[in-house]
Amino acid sequence: MKRRQFLQGAAAISAGILVERASGLTHSSVAADSRIEILLGEEIGTISPNIYGHFAEHLGGVVYDGIWVGENSKVPNTGGIRNALVEHLKRIKAPVIRWPGGCFADSYDWRDGIGPRTRRPRRTNFWADAQEWPKGVTNGPWKFETNHFGTNEFLRFCQLSGAEGYLAANVRGLTAQNLYEWIEYCNSPAGSTTGAEQRSSGEMPVRDPFRVKFWGVGNESWGCGGNLTAEEYSVEYRRFTAAVPRYGVDLSFVASGSNGGDANWTRGFFSRMAEKNRSFNGIYGFGLHHYAWNLGFGKTNDWFAAKGDAVRFTDAEHYELLHEADRMESLINEHWTIMGEYDRQHHVKLVVDEWGAWYKPGSEVNPTHLLGQQSTMRDALLASLTLDTFNRHADKVGMANVAQLINCLHSLFLAHEDKFIVTPTFHVFEMFVPHMGGRAVRTIFSAPEVQYTRADRPAEFWGLSGSASVNGKQLTLTVTNPHLTETREAEIAVRGARAGTARAQVLSMPDVHAHNTFDNPNAVQPRSEQVAAASGVIAFRFPPASVTRLQIALD
Ligand code: AHR
Repeated sequence: MKRRQFLQGAAAISAGILVERASGLTHSSVAADSRIEILLGEEIGTISPNIYGHFAEHLGGVVYDGIWVGENSKVPNTGGIRNALVEHLKRIKAPVIRWPGGCFADSYDWRDGIGPRTRRPRRTNFWADAQEWPKGVTNGPWKFETNHFGTNEFLRFCQLSGAEGYLAANVRGLTAQNLYEWIEYCNSPAGSTTGAEQRSSGEMPVRDPFRVKFWGVGNESWGCGGNLTAEEYSVEYRRFTAAVPRYGVDLSFVASGSNGGDANWTRGFFSRMAEKNRSFNGIYGFGLHHYAWNLGFGKTNDWFAAKGDAVRFTDAEHYELLHEADRMESLINEHWTIMGEYDRQHHVKLVVDEWGAWYKPGSEVNPTHLLGQQSTMRDALLASLTLDTFNRHADKVGMANVAQLINCLHSLFLAHEDKFIVTPTFHVFEMFVPHMGGRAVRTIFSAPEVQYTRADRPAEFWGLSGSASVNGKQLTLTVTNPHLTETREAEIAVRGARAGTARAQVLSMPDVHAHNTFDNPNAVQPRSEQVAAASGVIAFRFPPASVTRLQIALD
């Protein structure tokens, strides 16, 4: 079937014409209002597992109270690292974790966090003076960094979780020589250097090299990472990466990229790099940060005033936030196009090393958790539409890191002392595991648009969206229905192979504000559902405000 025929068909069913299907279908007499067509012959690229990556910064309760509980804690731990977190990261096959920041990275000296803990200095955390701190918060490692969690502790945490570490170097305050020595500390063979010797000291000695591959050269160098121009940053990038010890590791450097849609930064960096070095071989990835935070509805763009509440939100705020998050698609396309003007072979991949929802303070589970926020079903939808966007751009996105892992913005986990829960976003990451390493294929969605009122004016948002990938004989389709009240009844057609048996997992709740709490940790959970399929056509009802994964066997 040609694309035009498919769209004509979709228009017909949108108009309410009954779709007759082969006998045996439970929904054979229901009018489908939507169609999904999966084009197996139109491959986009292999989905890098690393787009399902994470980010952990020394910020509020991420490290202290989140990852790190200390060896003497009553909280079950391995060498001070929270066991429950490690177990859950294994469940979602966490591929990579970025650390130590964020803005914190450009104020951090890795040498403070090595060797015996009693000898490690205490420093003022980058976030100590943040406006968002609730009044009367006590001092502690969240404000005055103890450095008890340093390079060995972080990379051990990665090893336990099965993830790779992605370290961000301090460009604002330290030198290229300092990065050289951090790489030496992490990766030089046992017994070869003073760095390797230091690695084998302290309470968590590690003899064998960590072989860290991913290195970020600064963070948000246009802002907290040095307030540089793109031209100035390109000089720093070259200086930091010009000569580094490799020890047989395929070192992959990530340049600090743009803030949202700032095309000038991308153009400035790439044009300067092209002037000096014709090849882009020295850059693995170019960063991109995009948060969905602006609920000002065009009335204000103020960083504080325009933020909404994590748990209490209106229908319009629900759609508006998803709309904000959905800008990810155009951001990827826009930056990719500029990058390609200089890097014609597209050697450099996009690394979306911070993304997620950012709300105003007030829903954190403990006052020490700066930027901590609750996570509802709305955030699950935001996560699924974002991960689907990355899948659809598998040829462009090499890595992505949701911000941040635990007790912070768009977290998969919330913890305080011995309490630990997963958020709805965790379930989305688990549902998407079969996409990792799959071949993304083009998929066409056709569904009635959502209509809502935005600042007293009619506004629209797409009705269904998602992505599909193939792994061997298994096809995985993930779909988001953003509509708060309407079920979408879809007919799903697979082009290029015969669809066999299918099964579904659905994450939806009657109320989109639903979330897990320490008292009710399993309020939001996915459920398995029957799938009706006959003659290669699948029928499925996507509930309101839902994330669905369909796994279809290909004959
Ligand atoms: O994730 C919180 C902060 O957001 C990071 O530290 C910074 O890189 C970004 O502005």
